[in-house]
Amino acid sequence: MLTTIAASIIAPSLPAEADMTEAKLTGMLEVPPQREMGDVSLPCFTFSKLLRQSPQKLAEQFADAINGIVGRDGEVRAAALGGYLNLTFGGAHWKSDIVGAALAEDYGRSRLGEGKRVVIDMSSPNIAKPLGIGHLRSTMIGNALANLYAATGHEVVKVNHLGDWGTQFGKLIVAYRRWGDTDALRNEPIAESLRLYVRFHEESEREPALQDEAREAFALLERGDEETHELWRFFVDESMKEFHRVYDRLSVSFDHYTGESFYNDRIDAVVRELEASGLLEESDGAKVVRLEELGLPPCLILKKDGSTIYPVRDLATAIYRKRELGADEMLYVVGAEQSLHFQQVFAVLGKLGHSWAASCRHVPFGLMTVNGKKMSTRRGKVVFLEDVLDEAVERALAIIEEKSPSLPNKKKVSEAVGVGAVIFGDLKHNRQLSVDFNLEDAVSFEGETGPYLQYTHARICSLLGKGDYSALRAKYPIDGSYLAAEPAWECVKTLSRFEAVLAEAVRDNEPFVVAKYLLAVAKSFNRFYNAGKILAEGADPAEVASKLALAAAAANVLKSGLGLLGIAAPREM
Ligand code: ARG
Repeated sequence: MLTTIAASIIAPSLPAEADMTEAKLTGMLEVPPQREMGDVSLPCFTFSKLLRQSPQKLAEQFADAINGIVGRDGEVRAAALGGYLNLTFGGAHWKSDIVGAALAEDYGRSRLGEGKRVVIDMSSPNIAKPLGIGHLRSTMIGNALANLYAATGHEVVKVNHLGDWGTQFGKLIVAYRRWGDTDALRNEPIAESLRLYVRFHEESEREPALQDEAREAFALLERGDEETHELWRFFVDESMKEFHRVYDRLSVSFDHYTGESFYNDRIDAVVRELEASGLLEESDGAKVVRLEELGLPPCLILKKDGSTIYPVRDLATAIYRKRELGADEMLYVVGAEQSLHFQQVFAVLGKLGHSWAASCRHVPFGLMTVNGKKMSTRRGKVVFLEDVLDEAVERALAIIEEKSPSLPNKKKVSEAVGVGAVIFGDLKHNRQLSVDFNLEDAVSFEGETGPYLQYTHARICSLLGKGDYSALRAKYPIDGSYLAAEPAWECVKTLSRFEAVLAEAVRDNEPFVVAKYLLAVAKSFNRFYNAGKILAEGADPAEVASKLALAAAAANVLKSGLGLLGIAAPREM
């Protein structure tokens, strides 16, 4: 908000030849490296060539023009330094304006993406396999992005592209028929499926014929054999129940659960389209699309035996999302290990002449381990997401028991804190990095954690209650002169960045931009809070009201930001 205000002040003082709009200017503004330099600065280097002047001379001219406006004294002061135009906002009303705006429920939201529909492929676990900590990243990064795109005015469609098709179902079916236990499958669908997979792999080493049997079973499934299909349906339904339990805990929902099997009857059309465009070539009996000119290995479309695989299903999927879901942009929140796959899929779409392939974006993320442990489904040694959540909640409960033994709804709060700790522990990293997730650190109420943010928020709520803010705010308007001192003004300025931060997170598809920002908000608030007692005995109520308004605005931004990341903000903890 401060940058928008600054841009509106600077724009009229620039010569027409500078060819600047307020929006363009807003994007150019920076925070000066030292406080003494001012609140906002404009680097003038880019104008130098166009206006044939040194950057410093230009900055001086702009500063004179701004300072020359009558009535500006004390409001805004402009100064030139080293080719930068620096603005200092002296007037009290800037502070009250920003805090006033930051109290609104929809503060920070914009209409940047109006009229654009974004389809987000997220979570997308594989049926009959555990939803591991790896899928957590896709679910949480995807969910945060979905919220961020919505907050910036996009229309969002969340799709769970379930891995519900493929040769592994042949194996599962064979194993189930041999060694399966229906009750066990109903009680613990994923764990039982996993036991069956493991058993299949062990036994098929001794009895290789099992592999052929599995291939036949999958072939039957692909041909629509009724009994096999029913069994498949059973696996899917039972797995979904288990996935939903986790999604509910994470408060994540989807608009569509159109998994890989959904595209079965759309694949032929894609193969025909590829054939008609002359792109399909034979290679060792299989059908591929060559991508040499793009420096990529060929994209396998049909296997030797004619069975379909992952890439062609993704071709059908993208075409469906464009044509039938009306996607303007498509995001695929999937691990970095699938980068080549998506490069190939998007390249083939491009070769088919679909210019919209340029609006498909893989949003990759790094590997995640939990306390140093990797995931491996085959061997059955996996970290289950639910176990991670349970342990986080347990740890949160222990801390709460110690810190606030008399809190009424400890169970509910510790669920919010534990789950929030896991989500934040993921989202606070640049998504491309590999993360080793340490539960103890993530659940701590101190340091760069979700609970630290939640705790700061809850403390503000309690401060507002103690200070009877709702009564005070009705009597005293916000007076910015009480917020002019350094720690308060710093906090106000931090709050003023919210909208720009959301836009940046969307531009880069990086929820971590928001996570880092919320840490800055909490830190700047705590600095202000620790600088002097707000509810001091005999304090001027007008001053208290203004300071509490800043506290309320910080709480609003924290709550709203955490909500966008998919994290609850309890009022007490
Ligand atoms: N089911 C896949 C996996 O777990 C992820 C699917 C991602 N989405 C897609 N459209 N390919 O690896």
